[in-house]
Amino acid sequence: MANFDSSQRDGFSSKFGVIAAAAGSAVGLGNIWRFPYVAGENGGGAFLLMYLAFILLIGIPVMMSEFSIGRRSQKNTFGAFKVLAPKSRWSIVGLMGIIAAFAILAFYSTVAGWTVEYLVNAIGDQFSGKSKEELGADFSSFASHDYKPLIWQMFFMILTAVIVLAGVKKGIEKYTKILMPILLVLIIAVCIRSITLPNASAGLKYLFYPVWSDITFNSVLMALGQAAFSLSIGMGCLITYGSYIKKDNNLFKTSFQVASADTLIAILSGVMIFPAVFSFGFQPDKGPDLVFIVLPNIFQTMPGGYIFSIIFFFLLTVAALTSTISVLEVVVAAFIEELKMSRKKATIVAAASISILGVFATLSFGQMGDFTIFGKTVFDILNYVSANILLTFGALLIVIFTGWRLGKSHFYDEVTNQGSIKQPLFKIIVFIIRYIAPVAIGTVAIASFFVKDLL
Ligand code: PHE
Repeated sequence: MANFDSSQRDGFSSKFGVIAAAAGSAVGLGNIWRFPYVAGENGGGAFLLMYLAFILLIGIPVMMSEFSIGRRSQKNTFGAFKVLAPKSRWSIVGLMGIIAAFAILAFYSTVAGWTVEYLVNAIGDQFSGKSKEELGADFSSFASHDYKPLIWQMFFMILTAVIVLAGVKKGIEKYTKILMPILLVLIIAVCIRSITLPNASAGLKYLFYPVWSDITFNSVLMALGQAAFSLSIGMGCLITYGSYIKKDNNLFKTSFQVASADTLIAILSGVMIFPAVFSFGFQPDKGPDLVFIVLPNIFQTMPGGYIFSIIFFFLLTVAALTSTISVLEVVVAAFIEELKMSRKKATIVAAASISILGVFATLSFGQMGDFTIFGKTVFDILNYVSANILLTFGALLIVIFTGWRLGKSHFYDEVTNQGSIKQPLFKIIVFIIRYIAPVAIGTVAIASFFVKDLL
């Protein structure tokens, strides 16, 4: 098979650019907003251990698979399967990825919109002197407001579209390179404040000490779904980014570095949140609003809290933005290459149609709060289904594709850059991709489907 090459394609210009863009995609609300409450609802330390095992055993191999598929095919997530497995049904995996992109961006942009409101509140010094009850009430009245959260959501979608419109090098790479390092420094600063609060150790114990009796089949699935969501795997986001990576990039090294950065930031987010949760007497399993109530509480007790709160919500916004651009790019790249649209048209059509779905997610906290299916709001469904079903099954199909269809020699070529770099772990990686990862993902997915909370 030819090594598909299209030299006029836009792409990343440097190694650091690749890491920044891929880590920018991975690190986002999934780490700072989603990880702490999902861990809180599913067993704390025991959840963390399962999560780490999934990152290592499934996350990194799937990430390498996606980068390889993308770089080999030089195509978007849908086109990649058409090129690598012509006349087969494999492109359905790409289609699933595009559906996942719609589902994720719709609810993600709701939360991203909240972060902008909170940035504005931080600038206006709105948290100081408020009790945790007042901060809680402020959050609910904002989230259920008729139009405010919608305006911020639109604003965020437009911002995302503007960067995607600028292209890969001059948009995505340029911004993520500046923004990601700042994010890390700031999270560390807030962590330091959090662990020096009174009773911080209770929070650290909760995060790190495993209580296995809290684990159910559903929480194993949640750990797997969270690992996939956080690494941006299972929907072709990294297939799309992989198609922009230069031929001399070491894909194993890149995957390892991106997964490590992502995991580090998830753990740091836990260290930032849980000590504060315990210190202020919150419940660790409070759900999606945890970050928006607990963090303002920390800020008002810290010296320089005003400045910190501004920087923090700015960075949370940025972390969200570097992820939303990667999700939108999945759809835009597919529209450009498969439907022959211009980048401009593709971006507008994709962003506008996702925004319509997004309105329903946002209204789940207000006007449409009573509209539920199986007791879940539209927001909850998009949130649960995208990570636990679409990304999980997507990851399963991607490893099966790489292990059994792509062909070992093509995968070898990508992982070793046509044999020019050594990859001593190659055999182990292939074994994981062929057997361990599919069996592990399949077992968790099927078991949790049939055996609801039996453990
Ligand atoms: N990984 C991102 C986060 O943790 C979310 C995301 C999921 C981005 C899937 C792209 C694809 O916030």
